[in-house]
Amino acid sequence: MSGIKKIGLLTSGGDASGMNATIRAVTRYAKYKSLDVIGYYEGFKGLINNNSTVMDLNSVGGIIDRGGTFLYSARSEEFKTEDGMQKSIQNMKKDGVDALIIIGGDGSFRGAHDLHERGVKVVGIPATIDNDINGTDYSLGFDTALNVIISLISKIRDTASSHDRLFVIEVMGRNSGLIAINSGLACAADYILIPEVKVDLVRIANKIRNHREGKRHTLIVVAEGAAKASDVAASIKLLVGHEVKISVLGHIQRGGYPSALDRLLAAGFGKKAVDLLLDGKSDCMTAIQGNVIKSCTLEYAINNRKEVSKELYDLAHILSQ
Ligand code: F6P
Repeated sequence: MSGIKKIGLLTSGGDASGMNATIRAVTRYAKYKSLDVIGYYEGFKGLINNNSTVMDLNSVGGIIDRGGTFLYSARSEEFKTEDGMQKSIQNMKKDGVDALIIIGGDGSFRGAHDLHERGVKVVGIPATIDNDINGTDYSLGFDTALNVIISLISKIRDTASSHDRLFVIEVMGRNSGLIAINSGLACAADYILIPEVKVDLVRIANKIRNHREGKRHTLIVVAEGAAKASDVAASIKLLVGHEVKISVLGHIQRGGYPSALDRLLAAGFGKKAVDLLLDGKSDCMTAIQGNVIKSCTLEYAINNRKEVSKELYDLAHILSQ
């Protein structure tokens, strides 16, 4: 017996498509298990200010296909202080909340782990377009973001081919190259620059010079953690002597209705998070490994960098020769 009767739920950090579908899954599955649910607005900020709403079957109707998060999100500096954390714990006590489910990325999970260390039962659900959380093959929002990016780069390719142009396209990912590798491979980018592999622009420029014979476009995808598109473009222009266009995709990558994969993950993660709490677990997160929904400790998730696949990186360049 876990003794849990009421759970609190919040979304924190950068929003990711599929968060709403997950809020729905957690709420409806918790209700099915006869639990009460309250949602805190704006992540940890709502927990500190006790800004919450009672969640029921109706309040999560019609949101499965909406991007963003209807509980809103924020990056709270106050939560990182002892005072902020104690206020949160007091508010949970006042509301009779026995455990917390936090939908977010690694920053949010650091906060979740800190709460656990102060006696709060907490389970995380990984959600970030960066997909940089260790221990899970996928985080919510990554697949949707890839689909958005692929559709945008395909449009850039159309115009690049028409005008015989070289484009540098900057994608998000914070310190990780996972978005860049996966979108670059899926869009047949000619070069992919990621923070995990040393950037050698002279070598790339030499290749572009030979490569461009008979080619109507050159697409370079750069992860924001590797370099700025404007810097890469300036260097390539100088080295190759060819006009270079840039496109920084920006926050458009975070919006849009969730893909099939993100909706299915939302359902699986939502159920698993509630089950973990009912099984008496804490300080862990839901995960998908080899197509099976599992769990792993928050410590493993936040203290180890998620590796990018060198094999995938090499394959992308082999296939775009
Ligand atoms: O973590 C998700 C992410 O979109 C990163 O890829 C990006 O670096 C960052 O958030 C942008 O954060 P903000 O929306 O706060 O500018």
